[in-house]
Amino acid sequence: MLRTHTCGQLRLSDVNQNVVLTGWVQRSRDKGSVLWVDLRDRYGVTQLIFEEAKTDADVLSAGRSLGREYVIQIEGLVVERLSKNDKLPTGEIEVKVSKVKVLNPSKLPPFTIEDDTDGGEELRMKYRYLDLRRNPVRESLQLRHKMAQHTRMFLDGQNFIEVETPVLIKSTPEGARDFVVPSRIHNGEFYALPQSPQTFKQLLMVSGFDRYYQIVKCFRDEDLRADRQPEFTQIDCEMSFITQEDILNTFEGLIRHLFKQVKGVELPDVPRMKYDEAMQFYGSDKPDTRFDMKFVDITDLTKGKNFQVFESAELVVGINAKGCSEYSRKQIDELTEFVKRPQVGAKGLVYVQYRTDGTIKSSVDKFYSGDELKGWTDKFNAEPGDLILLLAGEAFSTRKQLNELRLLMGDRLGFRDKNKFSALWVLDFPLLEWSEETQRYHAMHHPFTSPKPEDIKLLDTDPGKVRANAYDMVINGTEVGGGSIRIHDRATQQMMFNHLGFSEAEAKKQFGFLMEAFEFGAPPHGGIAFGFDRLCSIFGGADSIRDFIAFPKNNAGKDVMIDTPSTISEEQLKELGIEVKVKSDKL
Ligand code: AMO
Repeated sequence: MLRTHTCGQLRLSDVNQNVVLTGWVQRSRDKGSVLWVDLRDRYGVTQLIFEEAKTDADVLSAGRSLGREYVIQIEGLVVERLSKNDKLPTGEIEVKVSKVKVLNPSKLPPFTIEDDTDGGEELRMKYRYLDLRRNPVRESLQLRHKMAQHTRMFLDGQNFIEVETPVLIKSTPEGARDFVVPSRIHNGEFYALPQSPQTFKQLLMVSGFDRYYQIVKCFRDEDLRADRQPEFTQIDCEMSFITQEDILNTFEGLIRHLFKQVKGVELPDVPRMKYDEAMQFYGSDKPDTRFDMKFVDITDLTKGKNFQVFESAELVVGINAKGCSEYSRKQIDELTEFVKRPQVGAKGLVYVQYRTDGTIKSSVDKFYSGDELKGWTDKFNAEPGDLILLLAGEAFSTRKQLNELRLLMGDRLGFRDKNKFSALWVLDFPLLEWSEETQRYHAMHHPFTSPKPEDIKLLDTDPGKVRANAYDMVINGTEVGGGSIRIHDRATQQMMFNHLGFSEAEAKKQFGFLMEAFEFGAPPHGGIAFGFDRLCSIFGGADSIRDFIAFPKNNAGKDVMIDTPSTISEEQLKELGIEVKVKSDKL
């Protein structure tokens, strides 16, 4: 070993020991007669001291020539510090240096490697290996490591077996586009990277593995957001001979175990909400239940008064922003601007202020009497001091718009505290979803999800009404996991493919292997997959999953450090039998 201790290890009890440390130069402070250098490694920071009167002149001069991020080895005596730093675990001591060796000098880093850095996102991504030296980023990855360890421990304790499934596969429909890999040996043919190991885990159930899990990379070519990466990780699980109830209980157990072990948080039992209820009261299938502010439908109370916006609306629905009745005109205008943004899409906002003095003022006073408005506030259980915000229009889109406003008000009122955790199961998702783009139904979860037996009869008459045995886990308004009870017989699976618009030949070509497997004794089974990066970011109190991934892609799907995606040589293309029209700027 090149060191006797790490930079986070030494304490008062080590005073008078001669030690050897290695690490990176974080910062130097030269006061003329005294030079201090902060030495950093993964474990912490230790202060080194060089004194003009006491340190050997060569050593002092070597100390003075150390630049930021030089990798050095020092030898010295541990001494008690005169002025202690209670913010550092090593803050009571420093090391009087007697020898310095530069193991490797460093160019000046492009940004400061401190908790609060001066580097912008793009620069930090380009030099990600330097960004990873910073405490907050390293700590995020340590949290991820801990989460993975505890996940494995819990699932192993429940008899789950970790099995690796292949990465060069055939398309699995999870709703996104596939990344494909051309085959050299089979020119013109392609592998697809898994969007999830869905079909393989089902085959493992047919094999009798009974309980499977895998912490596994998945690949989806879709539009990126703060909580989406083209390659991401799932805790992917499947079980046989279970009911939906068993799955909910087992994986609620996993999540509660992680909260306890990693955060020291006792998560209460996870409440359950039906999809229809989530849409009705929150306008979202992933409601943030850290705060209430449920939607109240006042359509009936608004009709017949000549206010055309409400008259023509399928739904008039609102939220009660408690304590906001004294919002200024400007504040209300801001909210109106917010809901009118194209991303939200509302036409306007109606407000009712139940003022602290008990009077009621609204933006529709011309159309509704004081008594009528009081009737509205009663329906909201509003009290003096409350502000009611209303949207109107087509039911589904109006609810979606109000969801955005509810989240904004939740933020404004400080209800979305990152250190508070609220988990929820959302159950009974629709089986199918209508796509305007393709003018047909798509599987809302995936085509292997079983319909509720009592709804199968609706498949021909009212497909949109068929509910699935499908469930999501939502934490703080983020979908962290989703799964379903699967179809496990060929006939039902074939019927599902028919409803999804696959011809028999197409279904056979793409999923014949699975349907055949169902004829060889497939047990009833079901499962779930958690978005591991999302879980980590919620545990870490962050909005973006990026810092919980060692080498993430940026929001254009690029890795700017290694510069990918990038072109490949003519020769490689030829071998693969691919002709590419390369844009002139790429040549
Ligand atoms: P689903 O598609 O719902 O289900 O994915 C499971 C969970 O994975 C996370 N997730 C993502 N995280 C980061 N970046 C992405 N691009 C991304 N896409 C999804 C989400 C999501 O809840 N095979 C099924 C599971 C099953 O039925 O067992 C599946 O993949 O947190």
